[in-house]
Amino acid sequence: MDSQDEREELLKLQKEISYHNYRYHVLDDPLISDYEYDLMLKKLQQLEGMYPELISADSPTQRSGAKPLERFQKVVHPAPVLSLANAFNADDLRAWYERIMRLDPRVSTSAFVMEPKIDGLTVVLRYENGIFVQGATRGDGVIGEDITANLRTIRALPLRIPVSNHEVRIPKVLVVRGECYIRVKDFEILNDELAKRGEKIYQNPRNTAAGSLRQLDPAISSKRPLNLLTYAIIESSEPLISSQWETLEFLKQAGFPVSTLVQKKDTFELVVDSVPDWMEMRNSIPFEVDGVVVKLDDLRLANALGVSGKDPRGAIALKYPAKEVATTLNEIRVNVGRTGVLTPYAVLEAVELGGVVVRQATLHNFDFIREKDIRIKDKVLVKRAGDVIPYVIGPITGARTGLEIQYEVPTVCPSCGQAVENLPGEVAYYCVNASCPAQLVRNVEHFVSRGAMDIEGLGIKIVGQLIESGSVKDVADLYLLTEEQLLKLEGFAIKKAQNLLNAIEASRNRPLDRFITALGIRGVGEVAASELARHFKSLDFLTQAAVDEIQQIGGIGPNIALSIRDWIDRPANQQLLEKFRQIGIWPEVIGNSATSTALSGLTFVITGTLPTLSREDAEAMIARHGGKTTGSVSRNTSYLVLGENPGSKLEKAKSLGVKIISEHELLDLMGARSS
Ligand code: IVH
Repeated sequence: MDSQDEREELLKLQKEISYHNYRYHVLDDPLISDYEYDLMLKKLQQLEGMYPELISADSPTQRSGAKPLERFQKVVHPAPVLSLANAFNADDLRAWYERIMRLDPRVSTSAFVMEPKIDGLTVVLRYENGIFVQGATRGDGVIGEDITANLRTIRALPLRIPVSNHEVRIPKVLVVRGECYIRVKDFEILNDELAKRGEKIYQNPRNTAAGSLRQLDPAISSKRPLNLLTYAIIESSEPLISSQWETLEFLKQAGFPVSTLVQKKDTFELVVDSVPDWMEMRNSIPFEVDGVVVKLDDLRLANALGVSGKDPRGAIALKYPAKEVATTLNEIRVNVGRTGVLTPYAVLEAVELGGVVVRQATLHNFDFIREKDIRIKDKVLVKRAGDVIPYVIGPITGARTGLEIQYEVPTVCPSCGQAVENLPGEVAYYCVNASCPAQLVRNVEHFVSRGAMDIEGLGIKIVGQLIESGSVKDVADLYLLTEEQLLKLEGFAIKKAQNLLNAIEASRNRPLDRFITALGIRGVGEVAASELARHFKSLDFLTQAAVDEIQQIGGIGPNIALSIRDWIDRPANQQLLEKFRQIGIWPEVIGNSATSTALSGLTFVITGTLPTLSREDAEAMIARHGGKTTGSVSRNTSYLVLGENPGSKLEKAKSLGVKIISEHELLDLMGARSS
């Protein structure tokens, strides 16, 4: 490819990736696989590295990467960012309608638009000549804070409008209002991760979104699953559209995310009729919705009605009844997680909440119990948001009888009875006993999971059986399992036992980074593990390293370094590592050099399933030896690595005369084969 071709390809990729991004994050209707998307993005990054002058502000590679701020700048909104008055039932809604009809009889002939009231945070997005130039929080409605860098990381937010393929005229200046939120499922996943790292967790999706938007370091926001829906135009250099419904249509056309739940109703009676449906819908929406907004479709009329305080008269929010109830907290129990984190939860007097019977609710952590002064036998308020596990909001102190009992943080682990520890600066309490049975189950689950040793067929049920039968007392025992032991377990016949043993055997040669991940050291996920593997190259070096050396490694802070050293120093873990060494599981970065140049200058393409290496492992190995892997075969491809069930790449390689090799031969090239 000559330089002109490369430049053209770069510009084409910028456009195409933005479009696929829009298909995925706005329309929820992707045209290509995540894998293909990643390949395109990688290619674009590579080209932009060669032609940095072509990196535009709206290039899909520029979503994150801005430097951390010291504080947020203030932004004066072009027009007041108003709020909404509330209605709590159909009568309130009718009273609103009658009120505004008295003010202006034209209301009786206006249509209405109904929209979900997204329980997130208002954001104000400014576009100049179609480019996203500034984004702000609502603040007090007049002045907000400039959170542009954080907003840029939200994939659903278009960096340039109209999104390609759309024929729509965009005003020179356009300021759009939307709501930033986090889906309930994403919130749960994020909180799980935070808890595993011993960090403070969030209480609900809304405050998670708020906390994520107000990070001074956009790198942190970019890791948060923030999402966006838009619903209004605040300012435009062209006359404003005079219908709310058409505004939503315009926003969609321009490429903004707009809720698919919005409805237009020709009369107020139809609005009232649909209220029960909106109530029904509540539980099936993947994000938190705290009501339905009813807006006059005629925006000129709405404008003429004016505002009352901060609330425009032309719209109202019909709030859903709170999913909160009061009940008695009978007991506080404690769960022990994989990394030994103790999590308290409340055992409640059974109570119905949003259609389900709730008997337990999370209490987040021990600080929360202390801060809220939650006592055993307290009447507490419990809330359920979407499908999230119910949580305790706090005690109803006015209902106290004096019989409530202060809660004491346990000093020993409820599962194994060993002393618990609380590291300075951390909220969490830990059971640090590596052979604690409660932790063991979760440890094994983690050890065999996909990003770790990836042992197929070892689900939670079998893990439980193995531990209960006494065959597995630590993760190394998995490699000592015999067919005889397995056949004693319920549901096991010869075939199943053999399959499992084969799967375990196949995991023996996982690379060092996977093994480190599998050990489940607190704070060490896949990213940190690969940094450690890259730096130390062998377990021998890692286990001898001092805290200082560990924390020198990029991405590993002092807390994680301490946690690693602490893990290694525990006698039980030393025994575990020794056991692995004896079993022959002692991975090293092959060639003992992260900068081996055995494959330098060579480009590989992998097709089909390789016999022992996963695709990621093969790519990582090639990279460690100086080679490159790309997604498609071209004349520049040095080798096609052929696995089972190859795709069309094989034909292409043949037609171009590219050399075709097996995994075996690839390993030979690296000098990596042990046999
Ligand atoms: S319209 C003049 N529409 O609810 C327009 N607001 O309680 C006023 N909200 O501050 C807002 N979804 O943050 C509107 N579809 C929607 C909304 C919505 C959520 C939020 C918004 C507002 C708050 C008022």
